Amino acid sequence: MTPSPRLLNLNLFIYPGGHHEAAWRYRDSEPHRVLDITYYQELARRAEAATFDAIFLADGPSLPDNVRYASRFRLEPFTWLSGLAAATRRIGLIGTASTTYFEPYNLARLFASLDHLSGGRAGWNIVTTGAPQAAQNFGLEAHPVHADRYARAREFVDVVTKLWDSWEDEALLIDRESGVFADTGRIHPIHHDGERLRVRGPLNTPRSPQGRPVYVQAGSSQDGRSFAARYAEAIFTAHQTVRNAREFYTDVKERAKAEGRDPGQVKVLPGISPFIGATEAEALRLREEFDELTQPEYSLGQLRGLLGVDLSGHDLDGPVPRELIPAGGERHESSRFQVVLDIIDRERPTIRGLLHRLAGARGHWVTAGTPEQIADRITEWFTTGAADGFNVMPPYLTGGFDLFAEHVVPILRRRGLFRSEYTGTTLRDHYGLPRPASQYGPPPPAPARIQDPILERTPTP
Ligand SMILES: Cc1cc2nc3c(=O)[nH]c(=O)nc-3n(C[C@H](O)[C@H](O)[C@H](O)COP(=O)(O)O)c2cc1C
Repeated sequence: MTPSPRLLNLNLFIYPGGHHEAAWRYRDSEPHRVLDITYYQELARRAEAATFDAIFLADGPSLPDNVRYASRFRLEPFTWLSGLAAATRRIGLIGTASTTYFEPYNLARLFASLDHLSGGRAGWNIVTTGAPQAAQNFGLEAHPVHADRYARAREFVDVVTKLWDSWEDEALLIDRESGVFADTGRIHPIHHDGERLRVRGPLNTPRSPQGRPVYVQAGSSQDGRSFAARYAEAIFTAHQTVRNAREFYTDVKERAKAEGRDPGQVKVLPGISPFIGATEAEALRLREEFDELTQPEYSLGQLRGLLGVDLSGHDLDGPVPRELIPAGGERHESSRFQVVLDIIDRERPTIRGLLHRLAGARGHWVTAGTPEQIADRITEWFTTGAADGFNVMPPYLTGGFDLFAEHVVPILRRRGLFRSEYTGTTLRDHYGLPRPASQYGPPPPAPARIQDPILERTPTP
């Protein structure tokens, strides 16, 4: 097979214990180490040894009410990623931060600082926070509605970008001779006075190695897609089938083009949660073993969060009562709701069947098979316009990741689909993204006009 010119981008999406909701109960997982930074540093080093693009940490500023049954607490991403930055040298560090529950000035300096201390490996997963219970942690009566959250997100990202650009690259002089540390002529207040935000600036942190950390986004609703087309350099998404993934892929790339952007610089990265076995039967049995460890109290709570319907009290082995799912309302705008509805309408599962379908990775693609089969499925999505790479979501840690790194990665490399060594040092290098110039600095030189001897000679008609 001729090596493909494109290479997969692979992130390790870390969830304490693993992505399957019952992972912490599995005999080989290490639930007592999930508050120990060395557990994550070891994982990060293994992902770096497997030349992964990045580590990704999710976050939400509230505690889900079903922590009784699963390791659904949160360590704060910046603190956590700084600990991983210290233990690694090349792997990217992507953290989630909410545009609804942060102030732009604080967020800009947190990511600029992470980019400095990691030598240019920071990425920002831009979310508007879907969990309504966060509002009470910030003195709000109600969680802002979907459309308002995205409207604020647009202005928020514009402000953060201005702050990251407020120091030009040449502002830092450190000239002992002249006694001038910084050229203040190249440090700019941004004077942003917008509909929702007022920020004077400049940022109090010099421009970071990547200029701007990588913009990642994770929302697939209509608002989410148009936001991604405008801002995202990498898009996290959840799809159950290659057909749905191709539809999303084509749509967001078209939208990015319509925004005047190069679609090649918008990486679409669906989630994949692989159960790996020496045989397919062994992999399927492993998945069943995990599903048998689930607790309906937890799973029904998850489903209530996703669908807005409480099915506790219904016969778990009876069909999902489709008529109880509300026809309209804000929840319909959310892509994750649509993913679950799609499973119900396409597969007509029992309630227990649906709970097990979602237990693996909350609506992301869960697949079981041999390393060869997993590599085949990844190859199909990558080579048929469904993905530029994946967020790898091991069902359990650390074994679920080790199996992928030791058995699937070598196959992808042999097929010329994944790097065997890093060729760059920053996350932008790994994703093949340019380093943006500061909007306050001199305009970057126009790209050299390629002389085309054929064109030059042919007189224009
Ligand atoms: C891979 C992935 C990771 C996500 N991580 C987070 C997260 O860390 N925090 C969060 O609040 N939402 C997270 N989300 C949810 C999205 O931010 C968003 O709420 C959800 O995709 C629905 O977006 P939509 O309303 O635009 O469809 C994630 C979604 C995906 C696909």
